[in-house]
Amino acid sequence: MIQIAVLGYGTIGSGVAEVLKVNKESITKRVGDEISIKYVLDLREFPGDPMEDKIVHDYAVIKNDPEIAIVVEAMGGVEPAYTFAKQALESGKHFATSNKALIAEKGAELIRIAKEKNVNCMFEASVGGGIPIIRPLNSCLTADVIEEVSGILNGTTNYMMTKMSSEGSEFEDVLKDAQQKGYAEADPTADIEGHDACRKIAILTSLVCGQQVDFQDIHTEGITKITATDIKYAKALGRSIKLLASSYKTGDSYCALVAPFMLAPEHPLYNVNDVFNAVFVHGNVLGDAMFYGSGAGKLPTASAVVGDIVEIARHLDENIPVEWREEKLELADYKQLKN
Ligand code: HSE
Repeated sequence: MIQIAVLGYGTIGSGVAEVLKVNKESITKRVGDEISIKYVLDLREFPGDPMEDKIVHDYAVIKNDPEIAIVVEAMGGVEPAYTFAKQALESGKHFATSNKALIAEKGAELIRIAKEKNVNCMFEASVGGGIPIIRPLNSCLTADVIEEVSGILNGTTNYMMTKMSSEGSEFEDVLKDAQQKGYAEADPTADIEGHDACRKIAILTSLVCGQQVDFQDIHTEGITKITATDIKYAKALGRSIKLLASSYKTGDSYCALVAPFMLAPEHPLYNVNDVFNAVFVHGNVLGDAMFYGSGAGKLPTASAVVGDIVEIARHLDENIPVEWREEKLELADYKQLKN
C-alpha cells in the first residue's frame, strides 16, 4: 500500500479523495498497488465526512511519518505550502500540487530539491485544470523550439466573458455564479485582474525555455475594464473578447503578456467558451497543436492531481527529470509584439 497525505480539504483536496475512491479499482490496477490517504491536513473538522478520522491539524505528524510516500498539496497560496513542500522533499517524500502560485514562484527550487533527493515534484494541475499541458511540454514537445504558447488559462474569466456575451449578464452577477460553481479563487481578484493567468503563463514559459521566468516581469491586464458595451461592439464585429495569456519567442528570449483580446472567428481560441481552457502551441517542427478541456473545478483539477499521484506511484524510486533551471530568463519587452 502507498500511503499519502493531502494538505487542504477544500474543493481540490476533497476532489482528490473522491477520485481516489471512485476510481480505486482502475487506479490500483494501473499502479499495481493501492493508494491510500492516511492523513488530511486542515484547520477545520469534518464531522460525518468519510475523511473525518484522517484529519490532522499539525503538519509535523505527516512530515515525521516515514510511511507517507507522497504529500499532495491543495491549499493554495505560497505559504505555508512552500515550507511544507520543501520539508516533504528534503525528507525524501514525493510532492504533487495544484498550486500555481507556489510553482510560479518556487517551482525551479522545488524541482532542484526533488532531483537532489531522487524524488518527484509534479504539478500538472497547476495550469489548465484537467488539461494535460505540463507533461506534454516537458516531454512530448521537447523536439521542438516552441515559438508560441497562447492560452485561455483562467476558467472563471472565460466563463464570465461567455455569459456576459451570450446572456448580456452583468459582471458582478456572473462573478458570483462562477464563485458558487467553485471555479474562482478564494479571492477572485486573482482571476479578474489576470494574476492567476499570469502565474500560469509564467509556468508554461519557464517549461518552454527551461529557465525561471518571473511572473512579476509579465505585463498583466485583467477583465475589470471590459464593459457590456465593449462586448456588444465585439459581437457586432463578429468577434469575441477573451483573456489571453501568451508567450512568443523573440530572438534568444520570450515576450509574455496577459490581456483581453478581441478574437476573430478564425483564431484557434475563438470557440473556447464557458469554463473551458485551451492552450495553443506552435513548435518550429511540429507546427500547431491545441490542448482543450475542463480548465477549473473540483473533479477535472483532481483528475490531474491524481494523475500525478499515479505517475509518482509508478516511479517511486526515481526522479523524472523536469527541465526548469533556477537561472532567470530576462523577458523581452512585450511592446515589440505590436510590430
Ligand atoms: N480560479 C482558477 C480558474 C482555478 O478560474 O481558472 C483553476 O486554476
